[in-house]
Amino acid sequence: MIPLDTLRARYIDGILAASDEAALEELRLAALGKKGEVALLMRELGKMSPEERQTTGKALNELKDELDAALRARKVSLADAALDERLRAEWLDVTLPARPRRFGTIHPVSQVTEECTAIFADMGFAVAEGPQIETDWFNFDALNIAPEHPARQEHDTFFMHRAAGDNRPPHVLRTHTSPVQIRAMQAQGAPIRVIAPGRVYRMDMDQTHTPMFHQIEGLAIDRDISMANLKWVLEEFFSAYFGTKVKTRFRASHFPFTEPSAEVDIQCSWVGGTLKVGEGDGWLEVLGSGMVHPKVLTAAGVDPTQWQGFAFGMGIDRMAMLKYGIPDLRAFFESDLRWLRHYGFAALDMPSVHAG
Ligand code: DAH
Repeated sequence: MIPLDTLRARYIDGILAASDEAALEELRLAALGKKGEVALLMRELGKMSPEERQTTGKALNELKDELDAALRARKVSLADAALDERLRAEWLDVTLPARPRRFGTIHPVSQVTEECTAIFADMGFAVAEGPQIETDWFNFDALNIAPEHPARQEHDTFFMHRAAGDNRPPHVLRTHTSPVQIRAMQAQGAPIRVIAPGRVYRMDMDQTHTPMFHQIEGLAIDRDISMANLKWVLEEFFSAYFGTKVKTRFRASHFPFTEPSAEVDIQCSWVGGTLKVGEGDGWLEVLGSGMVHPKVLTAAGVDPTQWQGFAFGMGIDRMAMLKYGIPDLRAFFESDLRWLRHYGFAALDMPSVHAG
């Protein structure tokens, strides 16, 4: 029989040298498993004399306990080492400064829309909305633009595709915000005072035109609203928007949905190639307006013998260019980050609104 001390020394050395749990398990099976060396020796006890059996049996049991304890101890120290290694490898410095992240900016169109909305809100105008995909009735007919009317072509309308057999009314991408006048009056009747900012679409593309742009519509209907009220509201608006007293000039014009109609210019000067609003003797056209046509009131369900008022429509993008000195309209919609960072506004910038 192999001397137990030799066996002990071999296994203890092996256990101390084992580098992982799998190696330990192998050693455990080899020593203490059912067919392990210690078990095999146990089996031989039967062949021994009672005295021999007693001493050898005791020694074998002690060896078994000793190896068992050594295995457990090694297992614990391997686990500790593994944990130490993980702690070292997964160490993270939570005091490091965060990676810088750039803030986005508010687009000038959004900023200016907010500014205009705030100024008109001060004058009692609520915000109305309508769909960008409109029926041709709201976009044209209700606004007294007959099917053969040249304005229908002038607007270079985008028509929505219609499959054969589709008998819904024709839809267009709205060419102006004026249809919101009809929707607002239908929904709320008179008296009414609303503005409607939003996107409009026309098939047009050059340095001063993009196929999508923004307008803001105004509508005020009551018992005795006149052109004088329109002029006051607009002068008040421009002065607040540009932060300086701005004179307006009304020129007779024609729109199917207003009678009389006027195009409105604001006072400006050109000095050394820069445009300044509110001074000098130049004029810049900025909007269309007039007294709402009785046919338009009727189409919207408002009785023109009882109610009257003004409407106007102006370009928001144009307003942004004028106030913030932005030269090219097309750049508004190119999503060039350098442009957006340069002309954009910080998220917490309050719209600048000056007393008129
Ligand atoms: N809808 C016109 C356009 O897009 C602008 C306009 C002119 C609106 C006169 C009005 C108005 O409300 O009264 O060119």
